Amino acid sequence: GLTREVYSADYDRAVDYVSQLMRDAGLEVRLDAAGNLFGAWTGSEPDAPRVLSGSHFDTTLNAGRFDGALGVLLPIAAVEVLRGRGVKLPFAVEVVGFSEEEGVRFSSAYIGSRGFAGRLRRADLRLRDAGGVSLGQVLSGSRRGRFPLPRPAHSPSELIGYLEVHIEQGPVLESKGLGAGVVSSIAGQTRATITFAGRAGHAGTTPMPLRADALAGAAEFIVAAERLARSRPPLVATVGRVSAHPGASNVIAGAAELSLDVRHPGDSGRRAALRALLGTGRAIAARRGLSFSAKVTQDNGAVACSGELTSILAGSVRKRQGRSVALASGAGHDAVVLSRLAPVAMLFVRCREGRSHHPDEFVSRRDIAGALGIVVDFLGRMASRR
Ligand code: HGY
Ligand code: MN
Ligand code: MN
Repeated sequence: GLTREVYSADYDRAVDYVSQLMRDAGLEVRLDAAGNLFGAWTGSEPDAPRVLSGSHFDTTLNAGRFDGALGVLLPIAAVEVLRGRGVKLPFAVEVVGFSEEEGVRFSSAYIGSRGFAGRLRRADLRLRDAGGVSLGQVLSGSRRGRFPLPRPAHSPSELIGYLEVHIEQGPVLESKGLGAGVVSSIAGQTRATITFAGRAGHAGTTPMPLRADALAGAAEFIVAAERLARSRPPLVATVGRVSAHPGASNVIAGAAELSLDVRHPGDSGRRAALRALLGTGRAIAARRGLSFSAKVTQDNGAVACSGELTSILAGSVRKRQGRSVALASGAGHDAVVLSRLAPVAMLFVRCREGRSHHPDEFVSRRDIAGALGIVVDFLGRMASRR
C-alpha cells in the first residue's frame, strides 16, 4: 500500500523526483503557491497558448500506485517522444502535478487545482487536518496561517485544453477487452462531516433506556445511507470514516463524527439524496435524544467533458485499438476544476478488475504504452488542427 499525503515529506520527495524527470525531458519546471508542480515545453513561442496535461500527486489512504501518478508521469514521456522525433508543436505543452486532489487530509478535494484556478476560498484555508493544522498554516508555512489566495495562473484564452490520463477505477474497459477509453462526464459529488452528540456515560452502570449513545445513532445512519443508495441507483453513498468520542471501550460514546460521500451522475439526484439523508439523520437523532449537525465540506456538480476535445482523443484511441468507448466517471478528477477554465478531455486506462484506492491497483505496461501512443497521437492531431 501507499499513502502520499499532501504537503508531507512523501509529497516533497515525489515533487523532487518528478521535477528531475521533467528537467531530464527538457521541461521548464516551476512550483506554484499551492504546491502544484509544472513542467512546460514552450516550443517556439514562449507565451504561446498551451495544452495542459496532468493529474495529482497525493493519494488516498493505503492506496495504489497509479491513481494520480500515471497522469502526471505519462505526459512527461509523451513530451520526450515528441522531442525525440524533433517535432515542433504550434502550442506549448505544460505537464502538471496537482498537489492535492483526494480530499483526504483536509476533507475537501481539489485543493491543488482550485489553487491553480484561483478558486481557493478563505474558508478552505481554515480547514484543519486530523492534527488540527489548518491549510492556511501549511500553505503559508507559518502558524499565523495568513496566505494570499493564489490568482488564476493562466487566463482562459491561454489554455487550449486540459487532458488528464487516469486509470478507469472501474471494470468496463477490462470487460470489453479494451486498453483505453474516453470519458464523457464526471459525476458530481458532495462530501460532508456529520456529527451525532449524546451523553457519554459508564458502559457498566448506565441502563440501556437511559442512554443517549451517539455511536449507536451514527451506526443507524450509516445503514440508512446504504439503504437509500441501494434504493436509488445509480446513486452511491459512502461513510468511509467514523470517530467516536471519547473512544474507550467502557464509555458510551458522547459524540460520533462521520464522513459522508454522495455521488450521482445528475445534480438533482445528488441534491435530493443529500436532503433525504440529512432528514434521516435528524429523525434518528430526535428519536434517540441526540443532537445532529452536518457540515458540507465539498460540493461539485457533474461535469461534461468537451465534446470537441474528446472526439479528437477518441480518434487517437480508435487509431491505436480499432475502437473507442465513452465512459462516465463515478470518480472525481482535477478535470472537474479545470473544466471551469478550459475544455477538458480524459483518457481512461484499463486497470485490473477495476480495482483502485487499494494496493492491488494495477495497470499493465502494454496498456501504459498504448496510452502513451494515444497521447502522442492526440497532441499531433491538436497541432495539425491549429
Ligand atoms: O474520490 C474520488 O473520486 C477521487 O479518487 N478523488
Ligand atoms: Mn485520481
Ligand atoms: Mn483517487
